[in-house]
Amino acid sequence: MKKLSGLILVLMLASFICQGEVSQSRTTAAFFSAAASEQVSDGPGMQTGKFDFDSRTVLLNSGYAMPILGLGTYALDHATCVSSVMALLESGGRLVDTAYMYGNEEAVGEGIRRAMAEYGIPREEIFVITKIYPSQFSDPEAAIDMALAKLDVGYIDMMLLHHPGSSDVNAYLAMEKYVAEGRIRSLGLSNWYIEELTDFLPQVNIMPALVQNEIHPYYQEQEVVPFIQEKGIVVQCWYPLGGRGYTKELLTDETITSIAAAHGVSAAQVILRWDLQRGVAVIPGSSNPDHIRENLDLFGFELTPEEMERIAALDRGEKHDWY
Ligand SMILES: NC(=O)c1ccc[n+]([C@@H]2O[C@H](COP(=O)([O-])OP(=O)(O)OC[C@H]3O[C@@H](n4cnc5c(N)ncnc54)[C@H](OP(=O)(O)O)[C@@H]3O)[C@@H](O)[C@H]2O)c1
Repeated sequence: MKKLSGLILVLMLASFICQGEVSQSRTTAAFFSAAASEQVSDGPGMQTGKFDFDSRTVLLNSGYAMPILGLGTYALDHATCVSSVMALLESGGRLVDTAYMYGNEEAVGEGIRRAMAEYGIPREEIFVITKIYPSQFSDPEAAIDMALAKLDVGYIDMMLLHHPGSSDVNAYLAMEKYVAEGRIRSLGLSNWYIEELTDFLPQVNIMPALVQNEIHPYYQEQEVVPFIQEKGIVVQCWYPLGGRGYTKELLTDETITSIAAAHGVSAAQVILRWDLQRGVAVIPGSSNPDHIRENLDLFGFELTPEEMERIAALDRGEKHDWY
């Protein structure tokens, strides 16, 4: 009898440990296979809004995991965009950022479908962000339907309003309906700052999961970033390397290059790693497969608090675009 109760105890313990393993695995790669309607709650080691450098993802307030780094596709023409998206996915990257305004949603969709077929990547592992433009806010359903059709990858992982504009609340409420239908998984905003967010948030039902704004060492948004993060919203930066036409100055900045030399990495890697260490997700744009691979290779070194401070001191409030 004693032996039998001991055996039962061992079996109960084994089952408990197995359950632990299952829930642990759901906190990493398996998040990507969550069904569209399924909300994934916090698991061990996965706290909403906190970057997980092991899985290279962050758990959004929508319940979905989002890669903390990926590829921006602004200014990439069709063929370049297809090959860049494929290079990213072949190299292990899993997030692509596009927009109606970039005119390349079809190319992003084509790159994703070809990479899924050629490299055997399941759709659930890939995270696609697109945006609707203020000129589309008066008929948001048509804009969303068009984005879904152009991308042609089943659902959209994250849709953003590209800029504040008239009828933006209305456009967001329309996106909320698509979330309920499972055709969009998460919602967000782009180019929203403290004043705009304070006005906007009380008017919508679904808390945005992401705000995408211009951020680089010369324009750091040191007040805006914590304001957004404290609301449980993830911040993602555009123009991480300063934007086309401005990258040279940033990538040859003495502070950045000396830190890069100390770690044996590139200036671009230092900037992108600095973003990640302050909890800002990155989507560097690139048409060069070598750069795309380099921009994914950010986990073999760590910036010291002193190096983080030296980069923080480069802030000069220098915006490189108007919005
Ligand atoms: N929400 C918005 O309003 C908004 C606005 C602008 C941009 N965005 C998004 O943010 C993304 C990033 O911005 P961006 O592409 O304009 O600017 P960026 O990422 O700051 O810079 C892109 C430039 O950096 C170069 N580059 C990339 N990786 C490099 C590396 N490792 N070493 C040296 N040079 C490197 C690229 O050249 P190569 O092609 O030669 O690699 C390209 O000229 C966009 O693609 C877009 O998806 C959003």
